[in-house]
Amino acid sequence: MARLAVNVDHVATVREARGIDEPDPVLAAGIAELAGADGIICHLREDRRHIKDRDLRLLRQVVKTKLNLEMAAVEEMIRIAREILPDVVTLVPERREELTTEGGLDVKSDTDHYRRVVGRLREKGIKISLFIDPDPAQIEAAHGAGADIVEIHTGHYSEARNEIEARERFERIVKAVDASSDLNLAISAGHGLNYSNIKRFESLPKIEEYSIGHSIVARAVLVGLERAVRDMVDLVKDF
Ligand code: PXP
Repeated sequence: MARLAVNVDHVATVREARGIDEPDPVLAAGIAELAGADGIICHLREDRRHIKDRDLRLLRQVVKTKLNLEMAAVEEMIRIAREILPDVVTLVPERREELTTEGGLDVKSDTDHYRRVVGRLREKGIKISLFIDPDPAQIEAAHGAGADIVEIHTGHYSEARNEIEARERFERIVKAVDASSDLNLAISAGHGLNYSNIKRFESLPKIEEYSIGHSIVARAVLVGLERAVRDMVDLVKDF
């Protein structure tokens, strides 16, 4: 039975569109947990474009399942993670100009750096996940760097423009899952997964956890809109 970890970044994105204090990703995390989420994920980006330090501190206090902090493998974030102590850190590549994480980490070209970062986080009892493309060389490098978990980047699969492309890209994920499992790495997957393209993953029980954000927040806006409008209509109708 796979687990679902819900990424609350885009609740914060909506908040930041106004620069006020709602909607609060911390409350969203509580609701996600009440609905059965097995974990909460947030990405503290260097530019703080959605999740803020305050959110991370409160999430650490509020989250009762498992808090997974996505972050770049840079000194500032390592210091914050060692202080806040999330249950899991997922190291991701980060470029300021990107809209969202665009590709997996290149662990192979910089294994020593990642090994050092993994060591510094593990010292504090944090489990480490490395976000990588479904590439056997990167999986071996992640294992060499001492990762506990690999999160396989499903973004290319989710962007497939037709069935042939989707099948071919999914096949790469299948191979990556087998290679990770042979190395006894725990396996997660995420990026771009939605209510439709996730169905193919039923055939991959070795993936233990899915990390999903945008499609859940997008659906929440739509399925919640009717109720939200009704609540406001009820308020103003007798004015
Ligand atoms: N996994 C990683 C490493 C990510 O960076 C993201 C996006 O923040 C996700 C999963 C979730 O992707 P999405 O928002 O497309 O579901």
